[in-house]
Amino acid sequence: MENIDHLSALGLFDARVPRYTSYPTAPAFSTATNAAFQKQALQGLDPDLPVSVYVHIPFCERLCWFCACRTQGTRTLSPVENYIETLKQELRLLADRLPPGLRMGRLHWGGGTPTILPPEMITDLAQAIKAAIPPAEPFEFSVEIDPTMVDEAKISALAAQGMNRASIGIQDFSSKVQDAIGREQPYALTENCVRALRQAGIGSLNTDLVYGLPHQSEQTIASSIDKVLALDPDRVALFGYAHVPHMAKRQKLIDETALPDDRMRYRLAQGAAERFQAAGYDAIGIDHFARPDDGLARAARDGTLRRNFQGYTTDTCPTLIGLGASSISRFAQGYVQNAAATGAYVQRIQEGQLPGFRGHEHGGQDMMRARAIEMLMCDFRIDFRALQSAFGRDVAALAPIHDRIAETFAGLVSLTETALEILPQGRPVTRMIAGHYDEYAGGNALFSKAS
Ligand SMILES: C[S@@+](CC[C@H](N)C(=O)[O-])C[C@H]1O[C@@H](n2cnc3c(N)ncnc32)[C@H](O)[C@@H]1O
Ligand code: SF4
Repeated sequence: MENIDHLSALGLFDARVPRYTSYPTAPAFSTATNAAFQKQALQGLDPDLPVSVYVHIPFCERLCWFCACRTQGTRTLSPVENYIETLKQELRLLADRLPPGLRMGRLHWGGGTPTILPPEMITDLAQAIKAAIPPAEPFEFSVEIDPTMVDEAKISALAAQGMNRASIGIQDFSSKVQDAIGREQPYALTENCVRALRQAGIGSLNTDLVYGLPHQSEQTIASSIDKVLALDPDRVALFGYAHVPHMAKRQKLIDETALPDDRMRYRLAQGAAERFQAAGYDAIGIDHFARPDDGLARAARDGTLRRNFQGYTTDTCPTLIGLGASSISRFAQGYVQNAAATGAYVQRIQEGQLPGFRGHEHGGQDMMRARAIEMLMCDFRIDFRALQSAFGRDVAALAPIHDRIAETFAGLVSLTETALEILPQGRPVTRMIAGHYDEYAGGNALFSKAS
């Protein structure tokens, strides 16, 4: 049987599984873990360990039809201005609870479109964040950038605040695909954006691409990738298009009849991966590529690659403080998510409450299972000794799961005394295999396709 038929028989094209950017995943969060947990976790932080900070900007001037991100369209800056004031108020609420001396090792602005902010708002927000949690040395500041929504003045303002990494959205360069996803983005404009970012001293540049979009074919994606390669990014994220119109209503504008079928999606992903590798990029985890000298590739080689809400990261810090509507904070003790709707988030802050609304406090085997899943997603391998040195004898509880996986995915995994490893031919079903360690996996309708 061909590998694709084997994977299909195992349910690759039917399964709906999480991308495991956290464990447990957000649908398992409950309102029992809320602002009280957040307050305690913030107060208990070790001031000697720098934290990472994520800021969510849920606004875009254009709303691309394919996009499943939490964002809203706006043609004026007034809701953005109000939101920035609320973020500054949230920072004051946090600062009152943080231990003195705490520093920020990493800052990431995501969205939505952070570059919807004009230069003066960029400066104002960055300074407010640094006043609340001063940067550590070294300090990494990364920003998600829509090339159609940025100019040199914004890039200069970000660089002046220490931006040293950038991630630009591309998705696909074919105009037919761009028309079908409601996102026009000329190549020349993207190229100018990349040039301006490099001139501003951005040492690490990521590009986001998506496969599985309407009208994509092996030829169109190959041509898009060649254009991306000409931009010489350090990293590439290649996401499988998640078509979830029941959750992201704007996707109802997508013509479903033009979507590639399951087997074509598989071929698009495989073909794209081969093209990046042939161009000298290392494959990282399930959906990233990086130049061998990039930090992400080094982390993958030395076993320090980690998974976070943005995908893959070199950040090993246990604490991520999420600011803004819908942001999730991660603490050693668990997760807490801010109120998701912008209105509800703003209201809580205006009432002087911490915005943590729902979450999950780790208990039982959560942390061990979280690490096992992270190892699979990052290294395609659970190293039993590493797991045991972190969690002691509890790891024995996972043995029946390893056995079940070895049986179910025979020929795709290898199970020895020391490790469970997903073989290259089994990597397309990594998320399905990881799901076997998930004690909270229940209704799966919320998740996107495994393939
Ligand atoms: C916040 S957006 C990008 C930043 C910026 N707003 C832009 O458009 O360039 C983050 C990324 O999520 C990915 N994404 C959004 N919706 C998706 C979907 N339905 N399926 C897969 N990836 C998606 C896209 O690659 C997108 O660039
Ligand atoms: S892809 Fe970027 S610009 Fe388009 S709707 Fe999503 S967040 Fe906004």
